[in-house]
Amino acid sequence: MRTRVFKLFFCLLPLLLSLKPMEMEAQPKGYLYDEEKVLSYDLPDLLLGLDGKRIRTAEDWATKRRPEILRLFEKEVFGRSPKKPNPLRFEVVEEASQALKGKAKRKQILIHLEKGKKSLALNLLLYLPVRTKVPVSCFLTLNFLGNHTVHSDPAIRIPTSWVRDGNGAKNNQATDEGRGSRSSRWAIEAILDRGYAFATMYYGDIDPDFHDGFENGVHGLHSSSETNMRQSDDWASIAGWAWGLSRGLDYLETDSQIDGKRVALMGHSRLGKTSLWAGALDQRFALVISNNSGCGGAAISRRRFGETVKRINTSFPHWFCENFKKYNDKENECPVDQHMLIALSAPRPVYVASAQDDKWADPKGEFLSALEAEPVYQLFGHKFGVVKQPPVDQPVHGRIGYHVRTGKHDVTPYDWEQFVNFADKHLK
Ligand code: GCU
Repeated sequence: MRTRVFKLFFCLLPLLLSLKPMEMEAQPKGYLYDEEKVLSYDLPDLLLGLDGKRIRTAEDWATKRRPEILRLFEKEVFGRSPKKPNPLRFEVVEEASQALKGKAKRKQILIHLEKGKKSLALNLLLYLPVRTKVPVSCFLTLNFLGNHTVHSDPAIRIPTSWVRDGNGAKNNQATDEGRGSRSSRWAIEAILDRGYAFATMYYGDIDPDFHDGFENGVHGLHSSSETNMRQSDDWASIAGWAWGLSRGLDYLETDSQIDGKRVALMGHSRLGKTSLWAGALDQRFALVISNNSGCGGAAISRRRFGETVKRINTSFPHWFCENFKKYNDKENECPVDQHMLIALSAPRPVYVASAQDDKWADPKGEFLSALEAEPVYQLFGHKFGVVKQPPVDQPVHGRIGYHVRTGKHDVTPYDWEQFVNFADKHLK
């Protein structure tokens, strides 16, 4: 008996060692994971204007209801962001015509932001396929641990901004050890093979992911010491990262090898919440993808399945604006829910991706948001194409795309294959 327990322990050891804190937290205790126990709720009416009039045309949506909903998300959820900065300067700091074994051209760009005497620089890494006619469509993404973690390419610059320890980072500084440590999430070669460029930025360059009193990153850049009193609808970190994505697009629009009108945004998890908000604010993004974005992203908050508004505001007090905390345990009082966030992408193609075992992110709630957003797409003559959640690993690619894949909270080559298929359908 004892030897059997021992054997089992040694068999499981590699698995136990591979679990990182974030993954171990994947399904915290004390939250709802049972569909039968979801209480009934009423969603705010997507197509009922604040003046009580029903929205019946695409034009009324675009000119009346969309701006109303956008303002509600700014005021109650993400906070208001500043405008495009001026001056904005781009510096190509590294370039190679032969990268990734000849498959790609590589460019590394510094996006210089200035405000009075303060300045900040964001690193953008860009791979362009060599065997495609320019200008090309491009996926723009944010990464969690530094551009150098998306591929083992030794030429990728290492961030100097704050990085969470682990994966080669020590004392909140990235090191060479982290090179390629997250490459499994980024199917870069496959994306290039399909004729797309791939661009990524490190989210910590834009704003560090801890509660720093909004002193660093883009918040620090914009605050002035005399007026450092924060308002309850001032932008927080997700809005900061989203703003940074728009600066990435500002650069891509100036690059003659990129088609600035065909840039697709993709984000995972907290960065999936971010891509939905970035796509809502900045309609220059041609296509928006959220992967496993969960609470505050694609999942309906009123379901209270998995992560709740209170829990997210408590664990990550810097992600949303102060006003969002009013809805801790009071989701039903919030004037918006997440189907409205998906609808803000309309009529552009939008993709919601879930993972079956990612209960914390509420796969069903993510699907329901996409479904509930469809009436807005219908105003533009577009369809989703399903009325109930498709089985696992059976993607649906209407103007709204959706899949729930087998497996856990992650980004996999399977996810990327679906995103590229979806982009082929809508961007080419
Ligand atoms: C935590 C958090 C989620 C978030 C995720 C991530 O699990 O609760 O809201 O999406 O981290 O970004 O990895």
